[in-house]
Amino acid sequence: MEEQKIIIALDGNSSCGKSTYAKLIAAELGYAYIDSGAMYRAVTLAAMDAGLFDDTGAPPVEKIEALLPQIQLKLKHNQEKQRTEIFLNGRMVEDLIRQMDVSAHVSYIAAISAVRRKMVEYQRSLGKEKGVVMDGRDIGTVVFPEAAIKIFLTASLEVRAERRYKELIDKGMPAEYSDVQENLEKRDRIDSNREDSPLMQAEDAILLDNSEMTLEQQMIWFRELYQQVISEL
Ligand code: CDP
Repeated sequence: MEEQKIIIALDGNSSCGKSTYAKLIAAELGYAYIDSGAMYRAVTLAAMDAGLFDDTGAPPVEKIEALLPQIQLKLKHNQEKQRTEIFLNGRMVEDLIRQMDVSAHVSYIAAISAVRRKMVEYQRSLGKEKGVVMDGRDIGTVVFPEAAIKIFLTASLEVRAERRYKELIDKGMPAEYSDVQENLEKRDRIDSNREDSPLMQAEDAILLDNSEMTLEQQMIWFRELYQQVISEL
């Protein structure tokens, strides 16, 4: 008998390895991987392109709300690159949205309720058939409170900053270590303190600190959890 499909929610701090972990889990189970952060990043890029940011602060909410109906997001799997890519109004922006200037602005955009409503609606539509691993900040608390597995991933700030810095440099993207660390701290602060859907561990989520863990160790831990959850369905 085919195993029942479930939803796996993976939340946690900025740059704690959620997407790498979520992709591995999805590949192992034959599930779809959905990066909810990419959606907030794409909206941020649209706001930047529209010139709505004048400095590092939050742009006027009314202007973002007015821009929202003009924003079309789509996720498509790129067979050749073996990755899911996000399209903003038909333009592939998967790489552009990872740049530091988008990271510097995204948490302001993600704090706006109208933006969250639109993103959550899209995210829920993608999870309708189950069989998805979605990572973000509010997946276990708001988007899929009924998810069968909820993991809250964390790691020390130093480990997270090192991982993100290395990732950017490896991709040939300009970055300073101190800027990366500052950005992670700032996003964690804004994401945890916003009123709408703050970053927090769901009551029934399992906390995993991966500061000292390899990916293989994380997968061994996951397999055990998965078997237990599936056997109890
Ligand atoms: O990969 P990284 O940890 O840098 O962040 P991300 O997952 O790409 O998310 C970028 C930003 O989007 C976060 O800092 C949050 O402000 C926001 N976000 C959110 O509010 N809710 C989500 N479900 C996912 C991301």
